[in-house]
Amino acid sequence: MNTLVGKVAFVTGAASGIGLGIAEALAQAGVKVMMADIDGEALAREVARLSATNADVAGVRADVSLKAELQRAADATMERFGKVHILINNAGVGGGGDYGDWNDAGWEWVIGVNLMSVVWGIEIFGPLMEAGGKAGGEGGHIVSTASMAGLVAAVAPGYNATKYGVVALSEGLRPKLAAKGIGVSVLCPGFIRTRIMESARAVPERLAGKVALPDASALPSEFAAMAAQAIQNGIDPLYVGELVVEGIEGDWPYIFTDNQFESGVDLRFAAIKAGFDKIRGRTPRY
Ligand code: NAI
Repeated sequence: MNTLVGKVAFVTGAASGIGLGIAEALAQAGVKVMMADIDGEALAREVARLSATNADVAGVRADVSLKAELQRAADATMERFGKVHILINNAGVGGGGDYGDWNDAGWEWVIGVNLMSVVWGIEIFGPLMEAGGKAGGEGGHIVSTASMAGLVAAVAPGYNATKYGVVALSEGLRPKLAAKGIGVSVLCPGFIRTRIMESARAVPERLAGKVALPDASALPSEFAAMAAQAIQNGIDPLYVGELVVEGIEGDWPYIFTDNQFESGVDLRFAAIKAGFDKIRGRTPRY
């Protein structure tokens, strides 16, 4: 998508951190933005702040782990802007924990927010983008926020499972949607300066008290301390937003924010390759 000016975007998790950085960078590029978030107060504050810069933005409160709320947010977007070209599936929570911390409510929460909202976002917004594309030849683009934790699994396998899912969905849909004029990118950030370690604040009411504590306390303490420090001193979310704008314009399959975990990806691929080496030369029995 080479011209972003005048296009319409829908961004989830837009009241804080990376989603807010993306909404702001899109608005600066001349895109009209519908910002969605479960935190109505923060959302109202950020919509007002961006509106004061003359950005054409609006907000809709939605818990994206509920398909009906995502549908209502899509309806509100169409009502406000008439069409939609860019979908940013960004909302996510640091949950899922490690073996020993699991319970069903925790899985419902982390899979709902991190993975099902991406599935439903594409299911709901895909046809709207296709319709706009066909009518006006305007095309579309989907960016879903995974993580480097979607390419390398370490200490939070629950979170990793959802983020690997977002990478798989994006890689799998890219060729299919290219044929329909819709680009697909997966954003894999490293450590970004956001409130992800305070994800407990976003536990939906229906799961309150049932979700095993999601953030720092669910991680091995050494890693939690390192991650908390790295996030506190992390990359500026608006810089990530600017990279996303560039990624949409250039139709990048992967949008990375830095090279910190590149060697981890190399190690994973080497381990996979070593698995093939174990059976190289053997003839399978059919
Ligand atoms: P954040 O906590 O600052 O922002 C997340 C936003 O999503 C918040 O405004 C929150 O209210 C909203 N949200 C949470 N649950 C929601 C729900 N059910 N419905 C609607 N909105 C909901 O965290 P951050 O870091 O900006 O997270 C954004 C994405 O970036 C997530 O998908 C996260 O997994 C991913 N990520 C973050 C990294 C980091 O270092 N901060 C690194 C890699 C990926």
